[in-house]
Amino acid sequence: MNPRRIIVGISGATGAIYGITALKLLRELEVETHLVMTKYGRQCIEWETAYKPDDVAAMATHNYGNGNLAAPISSGSYPIDGMLVAPCSITTLSGIAHSYNETLVIRAADVCLKERRPVVLMVREAPLHLGHLRLMQQVAEIGGIILPPVPAFYHRPKTIEDLVLSTVARSFDAMRVPHSFCARWGENGLTPAGLAAAAGPTATSEKSTRMSQPNPDFLNHNE
Ligand SMILES: Cc1cc2nc3c(=O)[nH]c(=O)nc-3n(C[C@H](O)[C@H](O)[C@H](O)COP(=O)(O)O)c2cc1C
Repeated sequence: MNPRRIIVGISGATGAIYGITALKLLRELEVETHLVMTKYGRQCIEWETAYKPDDVAAMATHNYGNGNLAAPISSGSYPIDGMLVAPCSITTLSGIAHSYNETLVIRAADVCLKERRPVVLMVREAPLHLGHLRLMQQVAEIGGIILPPVPAFYHRPKTIEDLVLSTVARSFDAMRVPHSFCARWGENGLTPAGLAAAAGPTATSEKSTRMSQPNPDFLNHNE
């Protein structure tokens, strides 16, 4: 068992698949996970994926209600290695920026910040007004890591799953969770010379990633 303990928050921004993918991969790494889903986080899971919130809860080692402020992760005395909120809504970002600790996901993040543990927020909103940007700045100033789900393309993603995985993998890097889920620049042909030699488009049409129709392969869960 990997001795690490990570909190995963899933809030009500679009992109529930980021949190679900993080839970799956942390389970593969045998990391102990502590999951909190907000009301709209649960709702987005149902609307955007083929998972039920209970399926997602079953992927975590521990699962808590967002109103449970007496959960272990509500206290700094409980040892935790880091926290990821994926996706992170502006509501949850705002709560964390202001230490408005009325819900468990916000309280747990506040506790991690005061204990100087890594807190990674996959903030998802577009476009952003100045107020959103200020909230992100405030969280960055108190030690949080703002990691919006903005994909890289140099590893030549072919599917939406590739895009999701690469962002989740970067969030693991930010929490210092060792993994080898995604190719890294400078390795395995991911160099200027390697990419120049590998002719072809960045995203192939082997599998459509157009969002006009949900991609059934992506939305089906294969647990
Ligand atoms: C389908 C759907 C998609 C949404 N997407 C976003 C989003 O991408 N970003 C965001 O900040 N809020 C989004 N919202 C609004 C949030 O769910 C809402 O502000 C809620 O208060 C978030 O609360 P929570 O952080 O406790 O989950 C969305 C709502 C719905 C119904």
